[in-house]
Amino acid sequence: MKRTLILGTMGAALCAMSLQAAEIPAAPQTYPEGEVGRLVKLGEAIMNETNTHPLTKDLVGDNLQCKSCHLKGADGKPGTGKGIGTFIGTATAFPAYSKREKTVQTLQDRINNCFMRSMNGKRPIIDTEASIAMAAYVTWLSQGLPMKMDTKRPCSPYNSSRWAQNQKKFGAIQKKATHANYLNGKKLFETKCASCHGKNGAGVGTFPPLWGKGKDGKWLAYNTGAGMSKLNKAAAWIQSNMPLGQGGTLSDQEAADIALYVDAQPHADFDLKAHLLPKEQMGYYNSKVLDEHHSVRSNFKAFGLDVDAIRGDHVIP
Ligand code: HEC
Ligand code: HEC
Repeated sequence: MKRTLILGTMGAALCAMSLQAAEIPAAPQTYPEGEVGRLVKLGEAIMNETNTHPLTKDLVGDNLQCKSCHLKGADGKPGTGKGIGTFIGTATAFPAYSKREKTVQTLQDRINNCFMRSMNGKRPIIDTEASIAMAAYVTWLSQGLPMKMDTKRPCSPYNSSRWAQNQKKFGAIQKKATHANYLNGKKLFETKCASCHGKNGAGVGTFPPLWGKGKDGKWLAYNTGAGMSKLNKAAAWIQSNMPLGQGGTLSDQEAADIALYVDAQPHADFDLKAHLLPKEQMGYYNSKVLDEHHSVRSNFKAFGLDVDAIRGDHVIP
């Protein structure tokens, strides 16, 4: 609360954000008993080691873990951080309708979407041990909270309101972006982010990558179908969570310009079909939409922007 008061002069939006974060309840600390407890702990381990865990490593196509974006809280558990991306309260919203798939999505479906997009990987088979374990862990973090099924979007109460506000605000800012905003984003990235994520976006030590390919030619970070690849969502997530431990310190324009810079760097094209296992293995895919394509170019176009002009690769008349 003290922080909210001190930052009060920095604007109502930030203030509302801190207040909302303060209302998010603490995560439970006692694991359920027996086999449920075992699965919750397994799910937690997978969230921390997604790209190296034996049950999920073959399904992941980058160097990220779930905890890379669903940040740890003070208890050190993935997804208990209270910024945008918290898992506290997530399970209360599901099953929930999704416009993207045009079906009602379960929590496992929602998790699988982050596998195909944020993890640049393959959609796990529903009801396999890994899939149940992750859903069990996320469900445990909503223990005791009231159900609030979402009929409009597959998004939890604590994330949904913050996304909605921020997406509108940052959408409007990004639509006006120019090459000058890109240059400003680059400068800010190099002073505020590169110490951990690398000037080349590849990540330093155990700090996660943001873009590009590794020496083996494999993509390092989220693809262009991920929430983080959308200019408005990336700005909202970054403002809420980064620099690490200093969420809420970037102004709207700073967060927008940094997101513009980060998302203009190379990220894998997204072709939905390439992220599904062969038909005989994948089981039922709960979606009415089987074609979806994105690229850095199309993601910029969605905001009326030409990425070449933004980056300055082309001479602008
Ligand atoms: C690169 C960042 C990133 C990574 C890595 C990532 N996610 Fe996400 N995840 C997001 C974003 C951004 C959203 C919100 C997207 C939206 O609403 O469009 C989200 C939403 C979710 C939601 C819905 C949350 C809610 O409260 O509404 C779940 C569940 C989820 N992710 C699970 C996972 C799991 C499990 C993993 C690991 C397998 C994972 N995510 C990895 C970025 C990420
Ligand atoms: C002190 C180190 C540090 C700084 C500085 C920092 N980050 Fe991060 N960042 C992290 C860590 C650590 C994670 C993942 C959290 C985890 O694994 O627990 C992360 C995660 C991320 C992610 C999601 C995961 C991914 O790799 O795609 C993005 C995007 C991101 N940071 C952007 C930024 C931006 C933009 C800045 C500058 C405004 C910044 N970070 C500054 C440490 C840092």
